[in-house]
Amino acid sequence: MKITYFGHSCNLIEIGNSRILFDPFITGNELAGNVNVDDIQTDYILLSHGHEDHVLDTERIAKNTGAKVIAPYETFMWYSQKGLNGHPMNHGGKCTFEFGTVKMTNAVHSSVLPDGNYGGHPAGFVIESEDGCFYYAGDTALTMDMQLIGMQHKLDFAILPIGDNFTMGVDDAIICSDFIKCKNIIGVHYDTFGYIVIDKEKAQAKFENAGINLTLLEIGESLVMN
Ligand code: NI
Ligand code: MN
Repeated sequence: MKITYFGHSCNLIEIGNSRILFDPFITGNELAGNVNVDDIQTDYILLSHGHEDHVLDTERIAKNTGAKVIAPYETFMWYSQKGLNGHPMNHGGKCTFEFGTVKMTNAVHSSVLPDGNYGGHPAGFVIESEDGCFYYAGDTALTMDMQLIGMQHKLDFAILPIGDNFTMGVDDAIICSDFIKCKNIIGVHYDTFGYIVIDKEKAQAKFENAGINLTLLEIGESLVMN
């Protein structure tokens, strides 16, 4: 499995021959100026919720690549009406794709699409594949529901928001890591805007003290897992 970070919460994950892009927000991200959105190749686009900082480049990339959109029902239908193909899901449901299974998990947040339409309840995803298992939390508070993920899945890594203010901050992400029984965390949703600027060294130190490995990728950087 290979993960490439495109800033904010956007990651491209390659599993076997399949590429999965999470929450594309690139052209609106000043920090991601070096990423050419039209160079991104993907087979699937997974959307956690309808907020612009998670969906902005969805239509452009889907039209460039023919990628299938997988999203909460209402967010999916909004894109379906724009002519995009894909697959709607809702919370607690699991579906099998070429690369493995996707289970839609709970997230505590809000969700409205860029034109004001309701985006459905916000979500996260657990992906299980032959190459490994991971949790993409989306935008969420720390919730007791995260313990269910630790009970049901053996995660190799998790992608968690750590920027605070709109989502979990570092302290809650550490508790989340305990709930989901995962010691390999990739931090996202920080530094993009003034509200979510963090002290990265302090974050690293707090995770290290808790015995958890926190990886903060540079934008454009790739990491091979396993
Ligand atoms: Ni959001
Ligand atoms: Mn967000």
